[in-house]
Order: sequence, then structure tokens, then C-alpha cells
Amino acid sequence: MPVLSLDKAYSHEELSTWVRRTSDKLGHAPVFVVEEKLDGVSIVLYYEQGVLARAVTRGNGSMGNDVTGNVRTIRDVPLRLQDDVDIAVRGEILLPLVAFRRLNEDMETPYANPRNLAAGTLRRVKSRETAGVPLRFFAYEGFLTDVPAGRSVSTHRDMLLRLARLGFRVNPHMGLFSEQDVSNPFPDDAAQLPAFSQVQTGTLADLEDAIAQWTADRESREYEIDGLVVKLDDLSLRDELGYTGHHPRWAIAYKFESPVSVTKVRSIDVQVGRTGRITPVARVEPVGIGGTTVSNVTLHNQAYIEALELHVGDTVEVSRRGDVIPAVERVIEPNPEAHPYAFPTRCPTCDSVLEERGAHHFCPNFRCPDRMRGQLHFFVASAQMDIQHLGSETLNLLLAEGIVEEIPDLFCLDYERIAGLPGFGARKIELLKGSIEHATSRPYRTVLASLGIPDLGPKFVELVCDAGYRSIDDLLQLVDEGRVESLIAIDGIGEKTAARVAEELARPSVRSVIQRLREAGLQFSEEHAPEKAESVEAQIFAGESWCITGSFENFQPRSLAAEEIKSRGGTVVSDVSGKTTHLLAGANAGSKRDKAEKRGVEIVDEQEFLRRIAATDDV
Ligand code: IVH
Repeated sequence: MPVLSLDKAYSHEELSTWVRRTSDKLGHAPVFVVEEKLDGVSIVLYYEQGVLARAVTRGNGSMGNDVTGNVRTIRDVPLRLQDDVDIAVRGEILLPLVAFRRLNEDMETPYANPRNLAAGTLRRVKSRETAGVPLRFFAYEGFLTDVPAGRSVSTHRDMLLRLARLGFRVNPHMGLFSEQDVSNPFPDDAAQLPAFSQVQTGTLADLEDAIAQWTADRESREYEIDGLVVKLDDLSLRDELGYTGHHPRWAIAYKFESPVSVTKVRSIDVQVGRTGRITPVARVEPVGIGGTTVSNVTLHNQAYIEALELHVGDTVEVSRRGDVIPAVERVIEPNPEAHPYAFPTRCPTCDSVLEERGAHHFCPNFRCPDRMRGQLHFFVASAQMDIQHLGSETLNLLLAEGIVEEIPDLFCLDYERIAGLPGFGARKIELLKGSIEHATSRPYRTVLASLGIPDLGPKFVELVCDAGYRSIDDLLQLVDEGRVESLIAIDGIGEKTAARVAEELARPSVRSVIQRLREAGLQFSEEHAPEKAESVEAQIFAGESWCITGSFENFQPRSLAAEEIKSRGGTVVSDVSGKTTHLLAGANAGSKRDKAEKRGVEIVDEQEFLRRIAATDDV
């Protein structure tokens, strides 16, 4: 059946206008039902002879995704009903807030909200993974397809009661408002059902207060609601009013205010990063959100797009909560003509066949122009080779002019050509020459970690060097002889990383970059290990036990923060317990923060942490 959307009201006035007009159209004041607008994933469950046959998502409204296997694992969804009816049930799959906070804490790409995490969970390939997430289901509409069974159901109330008796969970928070007497909305035996314990009733004049009360109560719910839905109770009146192509005329959603804007997806592009990781980006019609204009919104990876059921041309809600990067909250109007987005199989820049690793796709070509651009920016940055007088703008100009393409080009620049470019006076050129020259004396460890080879970062370099592989030749030889196990044998290097680095170092494209840099005179070996004294940190965290939670700007992955603590004598634990002395809390810290507060554990934020470790650097 078509999965329609709802018409929307954004204020009390708009809502009461709708209530009045609807009554006018019908010629009398009917009974209105008010329900919570549950902010989850809309789903239709089809039962045949009382047995769950199919569970389908909204998709583009006429064709959704079959998620039956995964929905079967949700406890609230009955597999067999109390009665052998044919019925389609529409409702919402929700992830309670507590569970959302707990699960999101440890995710590589945290979800913007519980709805998206629930949607992502429903699209998992392995139902076992879905079963591990405590999803809930509330039923709010039923469509009986066999007439005799339908005859006893003439109102929404009857339907909810029927759904509850068939075995569904229905939302107990609801209201009935009318000029008719609705003070006893359910038959006596039904009023006992827990499902109907919270029902409010009143006249239309009471509606406004009830809505204000509901709005205030939303914070105390275990799940997110983003508004209220007002519907006609009488099903024959619903038939009388009918539908537009987009929504029923017998219902309207009253939306709570939220920091989101509505816009349209013009296209989905993919970007190629320094490590080759492919990031899809939604290009949206520019829209203001909280004071800034947003036109690009990251979509992270293929699974993220699939979870949103996003198509080009869809109308979407985009949020920008605080400092968080803009996120697509959800599709509010699917483009009915669009096909599901097909993730590219080849690199849009160099046409290499993409490789799938974990949740992401990668361009494997080290010399892909986009990767080289990213590598160049990374290489010159202050955290790596720290090449002065070569800021982003200058570098972009050199790239645009085709004067540099890849890292080694920096060491054989055509200064005569550069002299003709805007902004390059004689003095600037001298300074640039000087700082590039200076880079040839940077230590081997810095050079190697600056090349932007995936998984080959400063930590890895330190570990292999300290283990005795002190030159690039040592490393390349190890790779050529297929001795990956020697890398794995180094404490701190895992199997996956070792294999990945070996794979990268075996690529001819990587070899040629290294070769050219060698010829340019960069350091590719170290005489001896740096003086130990340099790397010994003051043991300021000695005797302390730190738990780390949330995400950080300066410590990605979080293990980097753990390293800082350990190198200063502290221990790192995975959860807050009686023995924990400190909680390092990053953005979006969840339940661990609450625990720490309860136990009186000292909570340290990223800024404070940086200050503490920097203080010792001066020692
Ligand atoms: S009734 C034919 N009732 O809101 C219309 N929808 O913006 C049936 N929603 O996609 C919808 N809570 O997923 C209805 N109590 C409720 C709801 C509800 C949440 C969702 C629904 C729909 C969206 C429309």
C-alpha cells in the first residue's frame, strides 16, 4: 500500500485552523485523536492469516526495502497474532535514547540521532547484529483487508484496541478531543488494558493546553518525539475526506521546533581523500541553519546513504546541532521517480576500481590526482613536515597551475614559472626555497609518517623504528620477503595494520614516490634512535586511573589520548568503576559521564586535558 506522509502545521494557529476547516468540511465537530509523532523509522508490517509475512520500509513511498528478517528480531513485533487476520499495520521502529547514547559512544561514524541509528540497524545484512540492538515498535495504524473482520472496527480507537488485542504495543500517551462526550472513550474492559491507561480527554477548547503540556513532557520520554499527530477518529469520515497524492486529508502533524532546515538534494558526489577513502557528499540547495549557509552535507559511506534511504531529488531535513557538522536528519519527501542511489564502483577521478574495506570504499591508486592533492596538503602541514610559506592557498595555486601534482614535485620546482604567478615576489620565492631545502633535513620518522600512506602514521613509524627497522630499506626488504609476521611480532602492531601497510608499501606507485624523494635528498634512514630522554614524559598521571569517552578533535582515534595518559604513568580503563579517578570526556559523552558524575569522579574535558599534558612539555 502507498506509504503516505503527513500534512504539517508549525504553530497552534495553523493547527486550530486545520481543526476548524476539517470540522467545517464535515459539517459537524468530529472526534479528534492526538498521538505522539514518534521520531523513528516508519514501517509497514503485512500479516497473512495472522502470521508476519513482510516488513517493508517507506522507501520512495511506493517501493520500500524488505527488512523482514531483521524486523523479526524485534521483541515488540509479534510474529503470530492472537487472531488469524489479514492486516497491514503501520507503525514506528524506535531506539530508546539510553540505548542510542550507549551504542553511539563507540562508533567510528556516530549517528546524528536515534532514528538514523535505528535505520542503519534495520539495513544490516546479518540479522544477528540487528538483534543486538534493543529496538522497539509502536503500532499506530491498522488496515484490515478482510471485510468481516473490518466490520467491527469503525473508529481509530477501535483499531488501536484491536491492535493491542492482536498483540501489538500501542502508545499509551494519547488524547481524544471533541464537542461530543468522549469522557469514557473505551469500553470498560478495555480501559483496564495498560495501553489505554494514559488517555486524556477534553473539548476542542482543551486541545491547546493539552498540546502545551505534551510539548513540555517530551523531554521526559524514553524515546524521541518530534511533534504530535492529530487524526480523525471516525474511519468513515476519513474515507469521506480521502487523500491527496501526498497525505491523508484526515490527519495533520504538529511539528515541534527544532534546529533543522528543509532543502533538496541536487546531487550526490563522492570525494577522494588522502588515504583514498571515498566520502559521499550530498550537494543540497543552499539553506540557512543556525546562522550559517549549508550546501554540502557529508553522507559518510554507502551504508549511511542506504540507512537514510536517500535519493537524488529528495526533500530532506538537515540539522546543525551546535558545533557538530551538518547532517541529513531524514528524508521528508522522497523523489518518487528516483532509483536507489548506486554507489560508484570506480574512482571518479582516476577510474581505478574501488576496494571495499570495512564500512568504506577506497581508491587504491596512490597517485590518484585527488589523493595526491590531499597528500600534498598533509605533507606540508605543521603537524608533519611543517614546510613554511606553503599554506593551503599557495599550494592550491601551484596545484591549479599544474606546477605540482605530487609530493616529490616540491623538490624540483620550476621557480621561474612560479615567479610569474600573482603574489610571488622575489622575497617570497627565496623564503619558499629555503623552507623546502630545510625539509630535506627533517628526520626519517617525520618523513615517513608524512607521506600519507594509509595506516602508516607516527605511532606505527615509532614502533617499527624502535623495533630496529631504522630505514626505509629495512621496511621494504621485509615487505619484499613477505615477512609480515615480523611486523605483527612488534608489540602494538596488529595483524590488520601490518597487512595493510605491507600491501601499501608493495605498490609500485608508493615505491616511485619514495624513490623520487630519496633522489631529492630526503632522509630515509636514521643513524641511531633518538635520545631516549627526549621521549620520556613527566609522570604526571602516575597512580591515576582514567576512563575515556566521547569523541575528540585532537585524538582520533581515541587511543591516541590513551597513549598520552599511559606515557605519563597513568592507567586507562574501559569503564567507570570505584577505582576510576578521572573521566576524559569528549563531545557527545553519554552514560559514562553520568556514571562519573554520580560517583564523583573528576571529569576532564579535551581543553583541560591538552592544558595538562602541555604543562609537562615545558618541564
Ligand atoms: S499516521 C497515512 N501516526 O510521521 C498516514 N504517523 O511525517 C499515516 N509518524 O512517515 C501516518 N508517529 O512515520 C502517524 N502517531 C503517528 C505517527 C506517525 C510518527 C510518522 C510516520 C510518517 C511521518 C510523517
